[in-house]
Amino acid sequence: MTAKPIILDVDTGVDDALAIAYAIRSPELDVLGLTTTFGNITVKEATRNSLIVLEKLGSDVPVASGAEQPLRRVKTDYPRHIHGEHGLGGAEWVEPKRKPLPTPAVDFIIEQVRAREGQVTLVFVGPLTNLALAVQKDPGIAGLVDQVVIMGGAVRRRGNVTPYAEANIYSDPEAADIVFRSGLPITLVGLDVTMRTLLPSSRVQVWRERSGELGRYFADMTDFYIDFYEKGYPGIGGCALHDPLAIGVVIDPSFVTLERMRIVVDTEGETLARTAEQPGGEPNVSVCVDVQEERFLEHFLSRVI
Ligand code: BDR
Ligand code: CA
Repeated sequence: MTAKPIILDVDTGVDDALAIAYAIRSPELDVLGLTTTFGNITVKEATRNSLIVLEKLGSDVPVASGAEQPLRRVKTDYPRHIHGEHGLGGAEWVEPKRKPLPTPAVDFIIEQVRAREGQVTLVFVGPLTNLALAVQKDPGIAGLVDQVVIMGGAVRRRGNVTPYAEANIYSDPEAADIVFRSGLPITLVGLDVTMRTLLPSSRVQVWRERSGELGRYFADMTDFYIDFYEKGYPGIGGCALHDPLAIGVVIDPSFVTLERMRIVVDTEGETLARTAEQPGGEPNVSVCVDVQEERFLEHFLSRVI
């Protein structure tokens, strides 16, 4: 089996950290690098957190720092009540030993895609700013990637920021609009499926009790995120594994059922950042409409810690 080369774009974030662990620990994937963006926290914090998580995992995968702000908007507030003051929940904070690459994220993406034509999978689990900038700078890459897997959007269910919008798309709707029109081969892993992939608190306690320092580290991180879910969605019984599911779909597409659709992004008005299906339009996205949540959860747990 040859491992699939991937680039993972993150706004690290608790569930981003879990996605990083899942990707690094999966032999089916060859993580060429992480690229970072603002989103759950500032891009500086996302870069730092990504380096910390990789260090905890004993990985020397490179990290390239990316967008500080959305394409046409100004972001000043970050959801620290969801991902914690530093972005890694209640995990102890340490200064990373490594530094990011000198290459900016957009150039790293273009260089890697061009160096391995038709082979690279791009996985985006934060706002789509880096990807929009990459296709604007080099539109040719749209035809040279293997696939693009995006955690974002809510096609047939309500959003998590407004009744219409999901957080990653809402953070930069203009970038999402560019990406969905770009001709990139997109698979959309939205709230339609990720809100069904719940990590129960009981499974996190197993990490804490039986998996040494690394288990305690990820448990401290994740408990904070689970607390947010319990407050926001009383009785939900865990936290949503949004970003890890995007990795799961790359490893084993049979975790989900796909439907081809024309997806358009609203860039103004009350429905800002809605990812709406346009019936009858030329399909541009494979949308995940169903998930085998238990099989996915067991696979994720078998890999991460
Ligand atoms: C997405 O928003 C972020 O808070 C998470 O990391 C995930 O990527 C879920 O809407
Ligand atoms: Ca994320």
